[in-house]
Order: sequence, then C-alpha cells, then structure tokens
Amino acid sequence: AQVMKGQFQHYMQKEIFEQPESVVNTMRGRINFATHTVTLGGLRAYLATIRRARRIVFVACGTSYHSALATRALFEELTEIPVSVELASDFLDRTCPVFRDDVCVFISQSGETADTILALRACIDRGALCLGVTNTASSSISRMTHCGVHINAGPEIGVASTKAYTSQYIALVLMALQLGDDRVSTAARRAEIMDGLRDMPQQIADVLATDTGLHTLAKDVLFGHASLLIMGRGYQNATVLEAALKIKEVSYMHSEGILAGELKHGPLALIDENMPVILFMTKDALYPKVQSAYEQITARKGCPILLANEGDTNAEKMPGHKIWVPRTVDCLQGLLNVLPMQLLSYHLAVLAGVDVDCPRNLAKSVTVE
Ligand code: AGP
Repeated sequence: AQVMKGQFQHYMQKEIFEQPESVVNTMRGRINFATHTVTLGGLRAYLATIRRARRIVFVACGTSYHSALATRALFEELTEIPVSVELASDFLDRTCPVFRDDVCVFISQSGETADTILALRACIDRGALCLGVTNTASSSISRMTHCGVHINAGPEIGVASTKAYTSQYIALVLMALQLGDDRVSTAARRAEIMDGLRDMPQQIADVLATDTGLHTLAKDVLFGHASLLIMGRGYQNATVLEAALKIKEVSYMHSEGILAGELKHGPLALIDENMPVILFMTKDALYPKVQSAYEQITARKGCPILLANEGDTNAEKMPGHKIWVPRTVDCLQGLLNVLPMQLLSYHLAVLAGVDVDCPRNLAKSVTVE
C-alpha cells in the first residue's frame, strides 16, 4: 500500500505530503526526548573510533550531497572534527587522499549510485572506516560499508528526491548528536535541537498546509519565466542548492542556488527588475547579513520573494511576495525551508506539463558512471 499514489496525482506529490510521517520513522526508537539522548544502534560499536577520526568525509551525489552540506556545520560544532563534503564524481576525479584514520560517510537514498559506490571502494581500499546512510537496507552501499544508519523514509518512487532529503538530514543530525554526547559543554545545545526535532513533524504539516498559496505563487508569479535565482547563506546554503536542483529537474526551468555571501563576486550582475529571485531570510545569526543581501538586490531594482519566519514583523513590512514558514532551531530550519520549494517545483512541473515522476533524461538511481 505504501507504494500506491492514493489520493495524489503523482508520487512526488505523495512523497512530499508523507514527510510529517516519514521524519517520525527516521527518529522512531532513536531519540529519548525525556532524557535528551540519541541512540543509533548501527553506530554504537564504532563510536569511539569515529570520535578519534582525523576528519569526517561525506561523499554523495545530488540531493544526498545537499543533505551532507546541510548538516556539516552541526557536525563541526558538536564533534570538533574537521568535516569535508565531497561530490562522489569529483572525489574520484581528484583521487582525493584518504587515510586510515578518516571516517568516510556515504549517503545515498538508493544505495546503488555508481559514483558513490566507486568512491566507497576507494575508501575501503585505503583502510578508512566507512559508514552508509541509505534508505535501502539490502543495497550495495549498505552491504559494503562497515556500519551505518538506515533512514527509514519508506520507498521513494518519484525521480525527484523529497522525503529522502528530510530523512537523510535528520539521520545526519542524529549522528552528530550521538557523536557529540560525550561533551557536557554542548548538553544544552543538544537538548535544544532534540526539542526542535520533537516539534518538527507538526511544523512540517503546518508548512504543507500552505500548499494552495504556493500553487498560486507558482502559477501567477513564477511560471513562464526563463530563470529563477534562489539565495541564502549559512545553514541555508544547502537549501538554496537543493531548491534549485528540484526546480530544474522537474520543471525544466533554469534555476540557480546562489550563496548570498558570493553575491558581490558575480551573481549580482544578473539582477534587474525582471529577474525572479527567492531570498531565504529566516531568523538565525546571519539575519543581518541576509538583510544586506536584500538591500543589494533591491538597489538593482530586484524585488525578491522572501522566505521568512511567521511572526517576523520586519519581513511583514517589506514589499513583495512572501513564503512563510514556522521558526525552529537554526540548524534544523532547512528542513522547513526546503518544503515550500519542493511544492513550488512540483507545481511548476505540472504547469509545464512535465511527467513529474519521470522527467526527461533522468533515472531514479544512476547506476552508471
Ligand atoms: C534528486 O532529486 C535527484 N534525482 C538526484 O540528484 C539524486 O539525489 C542522486 O542521483 C543521488 O541518488 P542516491 O541518493 O540514490 O545516491
């Protein structure tokens, strides 16, 4: 029954709307919200080795790569181990140095992506501890890695990855929380994040309930444009890249995720009164810097659509269209911010007449290099 479309038009739409439940399945049995502890059974025997790592290397492709980008800062914060995030293809092209005391984490929804498997082989050969984060327990990556975490999102059929992204993101957050739980100094921070995770399913449902407004935004404002720029910074770097990937793969509209810190180094030249821009302006420590990005854009006659937190009275006063999301802990905000972008890309795809679950030239799992 889980792989039937039911009341939905497409698997992508069904999988987007499944997220209030799929994220619960990722967390089930792994977080004790009363004692603020996290236990990932698959990692228990390896925790001491992982904590001694000289660095953590994430390797993945596409959306899975973005889940690593989204959680990198939290890993660095909670483990104080240097983290690098690698696209599997580029990692292989560079014959990147790997050491016995590296811990390499391979993230893949399918567990069958050729580039990721090849990178995994290279890391096994060099004697590194290899972890898998997959949605498919019997997959090649699950079998080849030394240990790992199953994201439990349930089967994902649509070529565009949606619920797997939020579950990968949460699985990685859980991993960072567990690795960091030997530090008393971060106990309050970890508890805050777990409280955020506890409230996440309801907040996800609240964002999904705004779908009608997002459909209108897609139809009346964005559809028909040649291009869409999506900007943000800090924790939202990953979200803007993931949002742009989603838009282009299912709607065929050109879209670019732009790290707002780079605006002055080139992308600002694209801005004029006609270029559609979505700016992620949710509240965190970088809010003032995003404000300055906003001013840079409006000074060039741009009028960005703001993605902001409900109750942000400053954002309410600013002109233009808004996308509202509830506020959560800074490192989890990307889980909520990505949802309106999944829905917008879905609506843009349907408006464009694309076979949403099977866009041209793409396959669900890329089993060739
Ligand atoms: C996502 O929407 C894509 N279709 C694609 O980028 C995908 O995430 C990538 O091919 C990696 O797949 P995997 O997670 O199964 O390894």
